[in-house]
Amino acid sequence: MPADVIAIDGPAASGKSTIAKGIAKKLDAAFVSTGAMYRAVAWKAINAGIDPDKVDEKALRKVLDSLQMSYEPAPGGSKELMVDGQFLAHELRSPEVSANASKLATLPIVRERMAALQRAMAGRGLIVMEGRDIGTVVFPDAKYKFFLTASPMERARRRLAQEGESKDGATVESVAKEIEERDCLDMSRAIAPLKKADDATLVDSSGMQVEEVLQKILEEIKSR
Ligand code: CDP
Repeated sequence: MPADVIAIDGPAASGKSTIAKGIAKKLDAAFVSTGAMYRAVAWKAINAGIDPDKVDEKALRKVLDSLQMSYEPAPGGSKELMVDGQFLAHELRSPEVSANASKLATLPIVRERMAALQRAMAGRGLIVMEGRDIGTVVFPDAKYKFFLTASPMERARRRLAQEGESKDGATVESVAKEIEERDCLDMSRAIAPLKKADDATLVDSSGMQVEEVLQKILEEIKSR
């Protein structure tokens, strides 16, 4: 039986979180950002003094063994990722965490742990899960798969508009370069690289409003 999962994969700053949250709301489904989970690993690794370019495997294993993650009701009412008993919305979105998350996400031990946690989060009704490898590796049998993208310049503009997510003095060009570096790392890694699943529907959201993208995806879901 196919997994009760709507997989939304795609490159950095393609709007996956906004769209996946919107779809989950409209369908009254659960929402999981797997990017936030990799970011939580990076955040905890930074606090443990782990150098992402020269990883101390023992220290990283300790970080992973003690890391607690689950979606819990937050003060605003929606369910948010709780990391070691805290809601870390802003902390997880810093440029340093972004860069380190992509580096640590290349490591087999990190990917195995995250995929196991993500699979354990499913199975209790419909779930919208967004990331890089959901339709290809974590849930290759997902009921619905989408690959969301947008032009590099549009993605850079969207990221720059998100407060606290770019370095001070960042420009569209410098953000585009950072995004490209991260995408390159994500696409070229040996395990679970970023790529469109053969059976995923490609959605290019360049020039589209959020509501238009949501409608396009919902129509596709309803047509099946
Ligand atoms: O928000 P943004 O698109 O910039 O990134 P994110 O979705 O929060 O993911 C942060 C990083 O985690 C990515 O650049 C990937 O390196 C990694 N990631 C991954 O490897 N696999 C996933 N399923 C999700 C994220």
